[in-house]
Formats: sequence, structure tokens, C-alpha cells
Amino acid sequence: MYYGDDLIEEIRIKNDIVDVISGYVKLQRKGSSYFGLCPFHNEKSPSFSVTPSKQMYHCFGCGAGGNVYTFVMQYENYDFVEAVKFLAERAGIVLPEESKDAENQKTSSLRKTLLEINKKAAYFYFYKLKQQDGQIGYQYLTKRALSPETIKHFGLGYAGKYRDELYRYLKKEGYSDEVLKESGLITFDEKRGIYDKFFNRVMFPIMDVNSRVIGFGGRVMGDGEPKYLNSPETKVFEKSRNLYGLNLARSSRAAYMIICEGYMDVIAMHQAGFQNAVASLGTAFTSGHASLLKRYTEEVLLCYDSDKAGINAALRAIPICKSAGLAVKIINMQPYKDPDEFIRNLGHDAFQERIEQAKNAFFFEIEVLEQDYDLKDPEGKTRFVNEVAKKLLNFEEEIERNNYLEAVADRYHIGFENLRMLVNKFGLQLDTAAKSFETQQKREKRREEKNPALEHQMLLLTWLIDRPGLYAQIKDYVTPKDFPEGVYHIVAKCLFAQLEEGVLEPAKILNVFQEREEQEKAAALFNAKVPALESKAAEEKACKDVVVKVKRGTMDYEMSRLEPADIVGMQRLMADKKNMIQELEKLHISFD
Ligand code: UTP
Ligand code: MN
Repeated sequence: MYYGDDLIEEIRIKNDIVDVISGYVKLQRKGSSYFGLCPFHNEKSPSFSVTPSKQMYHCFGCGAGGNVYTFVMQYENYDFVEAVKFLAERAGIVLPEESKDAENQKTSSLRKTLLEINKKAAYFYFYKLKQQDGQIGYQYLTKRALSPETIKHFGLGYAGKYRDELYRYLKKEGYSDEVLKESGLITFDEKRGIYDKFFNRVMFPIMDVNSRVIGFGGRVMGDGEPKYLNSPETKVFEKSRNLYGLNLARSSRAAYMIICEGYMDVIAMHQAGFQNAVASLGTAFTSGHASLLKRYTEEVLLCYDSDKAGINAALRAIPICKSAGLAVKIINMQPYKDPDEFIRNLGHDAFQERIEQAKNAFFFEIEVLEQDYDLKDPEGKTRFVNEVAKKLLNFEEEIERNNYLEAVADRYHIGFENLRMLVNKFGLQLDTAAKSFETQQKREKRREEKNPALEHQMLLLTWLIDRPGLYAQIKDYVTPKDFPEGVYHIVAKCLFAQLEEGVLEPAKILNVFQEREEQEKAAALFNAKVPALESKAAEEKACKDVVVKVKRGTMDYEMSRLEPADIVGMQRLMADKKNMIQELEKLHISFD
């Protein structure tokens, strides 16, 4: 959906950034800014600032920053359009009817309807739990040690004995069979007819990070197969991109998240005060889950069942978490099966202790590996050590690898040097091809990041933002054309226009960007400070140097875009360059 710039700006202005962020973060005024604990990383003392005059926020700790749209996108995980809708509604601004193409419109209204149906079903099941015929469900949950508050907090419910109660209710609410089929809550069977997917089960509504119901898990009360039945994947329910409990866990502000296997485990942990627990939804843990978690935390503790299946699930999840950049530890639930049973038997403090004793993922892996070998037999031990040496290769940082080498050598009584030689041997075997490819990729990326021309452009923009008085002095020399591409080009265009009018509104400039990465790159300009130098004269000189470098960069850029055979063009550019250098001699910058 495309909204006009004016509308986007109006919505931004009507959502004061301090008001909006205060809804999420406790802010305290300090001088002309407000400070609070950053919601995007964990910290004990506030380095998150909101500046009303700029209508921007910035975290000195993690570097997050932007305008009110950026904040909502980052916090709520909205895309730009969702952020616009959210803030428009907040400010009471009615958006124009969406004029999407027909197909798009259809899916988005189907999604909306499916969310509506799921929500109604959740209320329906929740209501049932309190009815006479829902007593059996309520008793089951109570018997499993859930308090009335917990039942309410998670919106647990009961699907009755009759096979079409939900269907009849939803029909009365006016939904067509076609859309009910898409919801996954009703089964349409040629032979057996139409019936509810869930009946005679206690119900666990599954919510997305924004607490919208997207599906259900239903458990039989007692023994019976299958123990849990889950909503199928639908247009609103994607199992590999959602985690049970994340809507609550994401604001727990703990330093890590606990990942477990079951609905009941999450609930039991939350009830015991561990509000940072989540579970994957009756499916294996995926990289989609890992990158979802990475938005909220740097570290995860796996708290899987103690049985063989749980151990294997942990072994599979470890590398997935690591490649998403998450640190991983493993919590041991022995002698109990899962966190729910553990907590029920031993309580909060014992669980907290287990968290503190959580095992480093690498040691967990090699301890599991160890069980396949007879370490008393020299042959078995050799094979085991070889396997461990191969695993040690996964640590790319030398210091880290050495620390692990030392620990392993110590634990299994192997000489440190011997082990290191072994690791190096495997390293050499594996190296060459794979490694050189990787470093080449890294080198290219670094080259892009360290493009000096871009750095000079960035510096000059920062300077103009920090000291708007500079604009009048350099505007005869520098134009937006000197920022030929990308984010800086767009910022320069808007910034120069604003400076020409004499009003600097950084947050308005950020409106232009709809991708989070671009927003962040632009926001960084407005949050950076030009480094103070020893004297005013030195600063003036440094600033002029940057102007000269940017102008030279422009010439190089134009040169690089000439056809190789364009001698005339080349001569013209050379002449221009000479003129320009002469012209720039006259530029005198003064910070008085
Ligand atoms: P478990 O079998 O470990 O059950 O399944 P649990 O969580 O301990 O359940 P309780 O305590 O007996 O009630 C772990 C998770 O795997 C999924 C569910 O998400 C469950 O929470 N599962 C399990 C299914 O989807 N279907 C099943 O039949 C069983
Ligand atoms: Mn259990």
C-alpha cells in the first residue's frame, strides 16, 4: 500500500515520540532529553535517549535509533506499512481505503478474517471453560497445578464434547464454509461431513509476537492419542516463524530466553516466575525460530526433555542457534522429564539453580559424544579425541579455540600440544578451498563497508546536521549531486532542502525510508556527533578537508561512469576537476 508523503508526515507529527515510547519504556527527563532502559538490548543503567526536539531516539549502548516509525517497527516487528497503520490508528487518523490490486486485497482481507476467527474461537473456548460442561477441562488444568490467574493469562480454554459446537457458533457469526476451511479449525470431510477439529480437549491458544491468536494446540485430558492436536499451518499460522509464549517472553527483560518443548512447560515456567520461556510449536526448532529470538536476546538456554529425544533435539538446535549468532547453554532437568515436572516437584529455587548450572553447549555436545566411545580402550579414546578435535575446529577465534583446547586437554588428560597439533592437522585438511572462498567473501564485504568515498559523504552530512550554520558557507560548492547514490543521496536531498528553508527536521527525513536497514543508516547520521578537535581552527580545517574529499569523490565517481573510450568526456572532467580545486581554495569555513 502506498501512502503519500504528507500523510506519513502528518501521522508522524501527531505521534509525539516521547508519548509513544513512554508506552513501552519508563522514561525520565534529563535536560532536553529523556532517558530509560533500552528495550533493544539488556542493560542495567539507562543509555536509551529520546529527544523531543529532534523527535528521535538513540541508544548509546547498542546504537539503535530512528524516528517514531523506526521505533514501532523495531519494537513490534512491524514492517513500514504496519507501522503506519498502527500509528495512524493511535492518532485517530483515518487512512484512505487500500487500493491494492485485487489479488493482494483478497489475501490481506483473508488474513484479517482468519485472525478474527481465531480470536473468536479463543474467546469461545475460554468461555466454555467456565461453563458447567467445561468443568472437566477446568479441573484438568487445576489438577496440573495451574492457578486461575495463569489460566486467564494464557487464555486457556476447553473445546466441548459435541463435535460441531465451534462450527455452529462461527456460522452464526456469519462466516462462510470456504473461509472456515482456511482457518484450520473446522474439518470438512466428504464422508464424515463437517466437524470441529478440536473437541473434548483443553485448548492452548497460540499467539504471535503481537499477541494475536493464530492457532491452537489442544490436549486430551488424560491418556489418548494424539496427546496434542495442533492447528495446521494456515495463512496466519506459520510454525517455523512463531514461538509459543514469545508474546509474553519478549518483554521479560531477562538476559536470555529459555527454549523448551511443550506448551505446559512454558506455562509452568511463567507461573513460577520464569517469564522468558518459549517453546517451538510441536515442530523442530528452525533457523526461522533462531532469527526470531535473535531480535530479542543474545543468549538462549535449551531446556529440553531429559530423554533421548530431548537430547537429540538439543543437539540439533545448538548449531542452528549458533549460526544465528546466539550463545547457547543447556539446562539439565534430571531426574525429571521436563521443566513442568521439575518445577512441580522441586519449585522455583531449584530451577533457578539449574539455570545457573546450565552447561556450555560444546561440553554438552562432547559429553553426549563420549557415550559412544569406550574411553578406557586406547583405540576408542583415539577415535573420540579425533572427533573432538574436528569439533574444536568450529571455533574460529583463536583465543576461544585455545581456551576450549585447554579445557578438553585437561578433562581427558591429553597433552595440550598434542591436541593442538591434531586440531591443526584437521584444519589444514579442511581448509584451503572452503576457507579461501569465505575470506574472499568477507574481504568484499569489508571493502563495501570501508568505502572511503562513502565515509567522507557520511562525515559531511553529520557535520551539516550537527552544525547547520555550515550550510550557508558551503552551499555554493556542495550539492546533493555530491552524494550520488543510496541512502546518503536521499538524505542529502531532503537535508539540503530543509536547510535551505531554515528548518531542520531529522525525523521527517527518516520517513522516506521504509526498510529498517536504511532507516538505521540514516538515523546514525543524526545521532552522530562531530568529534571535537583541540581548536576551532583545527575543526574548520578538518571540515574543509572533508568538503574537498567529497568533491574529489564526486569527480572520481563521474570518471568511473565514463565510457572507456570517451576521451573528450575525460578531458572535460579533468578540466572541471582543476577548476574545482581552484574554486575550493576560496572556500573558507568559519565556526564563529
Ligand atoms: P511432550 O510429549 O513432551 O508433552 O510434547 P508435554 O509438553 O510434556 O505435555 P504434557 O506435560 O504431557 O501435557 C512436547 C510438545 O510437543 C508437541 C506439543 O507442542 C507438546 O507441547 N506435541 C506432542 C504434539 O504436537 N503432538 C503430540 O501428540 C505430542
Ligand atoms: Mn510435560
